[in-house]
Amino acid sequence: MKLENIYILAIESSCDDTACSILQNNVVLSNVVATQKIHEEYGGVVPELASRAHQQNIVPVIDSALKKANITKKQLNAIAFTAGPGLMGSLLVGVSFAKSFALALNIPLIDVNHMQGHLLAHFIKDNDSLPPLFPFLGMTISGGHTQIVTVTDYFKMEVIGETIDDAIGEAFDKSAKTLGLPYPGGPLIDKYAKLGNPKAFHFTKPKVDGLNFSFSGFKTAVLYLVQRETKLHPNFVSENLNDLCASIQHTLVHIVLDKLKKAVAQTGITTIAIGGGVSANSGIREMLQNTEKRFGWTVHIPKFEYTTDNAAMIGITGYYKFLNKEFTNLKITASPRSKI
Ligand code: KG4
Ligand code: ZN
Repeated sequence: MKLENIYILAIESSCDDTACSILQNNVVLSNVVATQKIHEEYGGVVPELASRAHQQNIVPVIDSALKKANITKKQLNAIAFTAGPGLMGSLLVGVSFAKSFALALNIPLIDVNHMQGHLLAHFIKDNDSLPPLFPFLGMTISGGHTQIVTVTDYFKMEVIGETIDDAIGEAFDKSAKTLGLPYPGGPLIDKYAKLGNPKAFHFTKPKVDGLNFSFSGFKTAVLYLVQRETKLHPNFVSENLNDLCASIQHTLVHIVLDKLKKAVAQTGITTIAIGGGVSANSGIREMLQNTEKRFGWTVHIPKFEYTTDNAAMIGITGYYKFLNKEFTNLKITASPRSKI
């Protein structure tokens, strides 16, 4: 039987977003995300609270995605879900729901790697842009990930660089915390950076071999500067907020640029596709757009709703797995540390 229209319901619950999306082939019919606000008061994601919030959100989110897509559950051809990597308690909510739903509907179940999802998000049909051509360099930058991957086909991916400690989003968020800004501080650093001098403060870039990243030293450098200067001038942060944000962002943008230049030199691949929440950063976007002119690279940045954690990226990955008949069974469980 050849199916013309494949309807996939996809679930993402790896961290602090409960998300469900319905796709008709590579077209997104609905994309619902419930972002958990509870973590803001703790300055970071609290795993125990995240899994509880997923339990509360998952049924309403799935119900809403079905209603927005205007299809019934009987029309679904498969259920796709994030199997990992992510937080165990969070993943388990999505995995358990997906298994029960597939069993009840008697349709195939598709396990998806979250990091592959970020990369394949570029293949969601979008009338404004075309997907990247293979081979490309995928770079996923978010609060949980910092990774450069060569992508030679839908499921032929190799990680060629990743962080050895914090993710770049944590570098933004923890620096913001040092400046007294609320969580998540990345977007606020971006906002104030627009008003400041990027060369006002100098932070040495970490020296990490090859294509790997490290951000823990950077975070400490920001902390030491703020502590040292605040002792001398108590209003140091408030009087220099814009310059501090601009300098922090400038350094982080250049760390990314340096590694991308290395990756291009090493692989000869000049098509770059980025994803993850930090790809919303205006400094990173501007830097990438400039590389098109300066170095002749081709850069792909997906729509914002497909860069942060979402279920549409799990759905598109599920769609390509469906075409390959790559299904899993009801014995599957969450794999918090799974690799690409
Ligand atoms: O992909 P995402 O929503 O969730 C995961 O971490 O997986 O990414 C969230 C991260 C946070 O660290 C947040 O501060 C950062 O993305 N972020 C930004 C910006 N928007 C979101 N960082 C810098 N500039 C932004 N405009
Ligand atoms: Zn993610």
